[in-house]
Amino acid sequence: MPKIVILTGAGISAESGLKTFRDNNGLWENHRVEEVATPEAFAANPDLVYRFYNLRRASLAETRPNSAHAALAELEQHLGSEDFLLVTQNVDNLHEQAGSQRLLHMHGELTKARCTACQSVHEWPNPLDATSRCPACHNTASLRPHIVWFGEMPLYMSEIYQALAECDVFVSVGTSGNVYPAAGFYQEAKAFGARTIELNLEPSANARDFDEGHYGPATKVVPEFVAKVKTGAYG
Ligand code: APR
Repeated sequence: MPKIVILTGAGISAESGLKTFRDNNGLWENHRVEEVATPEAFAANPDLVYRFYNLRRASLAETRPNSAHAALAELEQHLGSEDFLLVTQNVDNLHEQAGSQRLLHMHGELTKARCTACQSVHEWPNPLDATSRCPACHNTASLRPHIVWFGEMPLYMSEIYQALAECDVFVSVGTSGNVYPAAGFYQEAKAFGARTIELNLEPSANARDFDEGHYGPATKVVPEFVAKVKTGAYG
């Protein structure tokens, strides 16, 4: 069985009804990312940023995983968690809704809040604002969305780089390849000998550097890829 690392981006959730970032003239739900997704934006206008993420979090209640999320959960079942790691740039919870277990949210999670006073992270299903109290240190006005904003360090980097060095196959799904470090993961895996595969609606910025590319909606190309792995095509 091959050891597989999968990286997903907004494209895998598009057919579940969540908007991607760069397919909407650079606007995310009508906001420029600098208005809502930077530490500076949060410092300047915390109420806008809280409200923005509260709306995104609330929208998850009506959002369901699609057959691409389901296929990746099935792939993990097939390979076993030892040989499988799913890294997502997405802050939605569709991979866990679909049943994925070995999953790292490198850009954080909409369903959690982090305390800037004591650094604790908490499940946060409800709206968050400046009056919310940290369950660990009891400070108010210290909780923020558990989201990695532009200019901040993504999470789990050492675990991810270790898995990239050890995998046989690296697959990038539904990401435009614009945001580093995730956009460079395929090069890292390739340098350690992995086969690199892109599954996307259309060729990404780095498409020609991948060993293989399959293009079409995620609900088509991801289940097809998983079926191919099951036939033993990748070892
Ligand atoms: N199936 C497969 N791919 C799709 C689909 C679909 N149905 N719809 C769109 N795509 C592809 C687009 O062609 C594009 O290449 O998904 C990609 C989405 O790219 P982006 O919007 O740039 O999203 P992503 O790559 O995840 O962004 C990375 O940037 O804004 C930050 O932190 C944010 O995690 C995000 C990061």
